Amino acid sequence: MQLVIATRNAHKLEEIRAIFDFRSLDVLSAFDFPEIPDVVEDGETFEENAVKKAVEIAKATGCWALADDSGLEVDVLGGAPGVYSARYAGEPCSYPANNEKLLRELSGETNRSARFRTVIALSDPEGKAETVSGDCPGKIIGELRGANGFGYDPLFVPNGFTETFAELDAVVKNRISHRANALKKAHAVWGAKLAAL
Ligand code: IMP
Repeated sequence: MQLVIATRNAHKLEEIRAIFDFRSLDVLSAFDFPEIPDVVEDGETFEENAVKKAVEIAKATGCWALADDSGLEVDVLGGAPGVYSARYAGEPCSYPANNEKLLRELSGETNRSARFRTVIALSDPEGKAETVSGDCPGKIIGELRGANGFGYDPLFVPNGFTETFAELDAVVKNRISHRANALKKAHAVWGAKLAAL
C-alpha cells in the first residue's frame, strides 16, 4: 500500500520526510500526481484545511494520504495571519511580501509573542480522516535573519534560542518545530497502523 503526502510545497515535503520515519512504506507526494488539481484551502481552521487536503488526495489516488496545514499565530494580531498565513499579503503567495507585511503590522509593537501551529490529517482511501496537532512558541523579531527554511522562518525565534528558524540548522528546526511536534504525535498515534499497511 502506498501513502501520499498531500502537498506540492517542496520545503514542507523535505521536512516531513526528514522528521517522520516511514520505515518500509512506499511514500509518494502530490508531485507524483500532476493530473490532480490543487486542493482549494478555503477552511476557517487548520483542521478543516488539513482534513480537506488529506481526504481529497486519498479519494483521488485511492491511497492513504497525509496532509499538513500550518501557519503563524501572532498574539497581538489576534492570532493573525493564522489560517491565512500563505496569502497574508494577497495573491500570488509571496514569502518576502508576507514577511514585509508582518514587519509593518508589528512596527513599534513591544509584544512580539507568536507561535507556529501545524495540524496533520491522515485519511484512509475512502476519506475517513483523523488529526493531530503541534505547536512551537517563540517571538517575531524586527528584521529578517538567515537563509534556511521557508516562509516566516527569517522572522521567528523559537523560545529558548537566540537564532531564527532560518539561522538554525535544519536538523535543529526539525527537532523542535511545530511540524516536528505534530509528526511526533502522528507517529505515536498512527505509527503502528501505517507500518501494517
Ligand atoms: P499551508 O500550510 O500550505 O496553508 O501554508 C502555510 C503558510 O504558513 C506557508 O505558506 C508559510 O508562509 C507558513 N508556514 C508554515 N510552516 C512554516 C514553517 O515551518 N516556517 C515558516 N513558515 C511556515
